[in-house]
Amino acid sequence: MTGRVTLVLPAVARPDAATATPLGRLTVPGRAIPEKTVSVDPTEIGRLRDAARDAAARAHAPYSRFRVGAALIMADDQERRVISGANVENASYGGTICAERTALTQAATLGFRKLEVLVVSCVAALEAPVADRSPCGICRQVIHEFGSREPETLVIVDGGGEGALGDVFDLDRLLPYGFDLPI
Ligand code: THU
Repeated sequence: MTGRVTLVLPAVARPDAATATPLGRLTVPGRAIPEKTVSVDPTEIGRLRDAARDAAARAHAPYSRFRVGAALIMADDQERRVISGANVENASYGGTICAERTALTQAATLGFRKLEVLVVSCVAALEAPVADRSPCGICRQVIHEFGSREPETLVIVDGGGEGALGDVFDLDRLLPYGFDLPI
């Protein structure tokens, strides 16, 4: 049995930049992410990883044949149940929903709003570069919707290989400038 382990997510600092043009200033917004320390339970991550891989086996992916599974735990679920989802494709293509959103919409439908940890597994691409097996932009925005600072939402991308449990993202690393409706 593994205990909890501490992860340090390093600070990231990217400066702003601005260039004057005849029509006005063009700004390149920078980014400052402070160092963060989080605690994770590798046993729980392993369980979610297995559930995600299991869900991927039930994907409806006749068009891309790219099966994806996701499994998550919501912080506001006292039972801490594992909620999973797979990608469900559609002949219209645009009707396709990714595994992460299938799992999250299920969690939201059960009444939960605060995502604690989500593991995604692109089972056919476990050895691929992380960009090829991590959530798409729409999923990142949907994860942002249910993201939490306390506890810090973590997204873990199945890294698959021998000795590798996964790649860890917090909200800041997952989606810089995620959209919030300013109302
Ligand atoms: N897909 C996911 O389910 N999650 C991702 O993070 C990336 C892509 C699905 C959508 C589609 O069914 C297939 O993978 C190929 O893009």
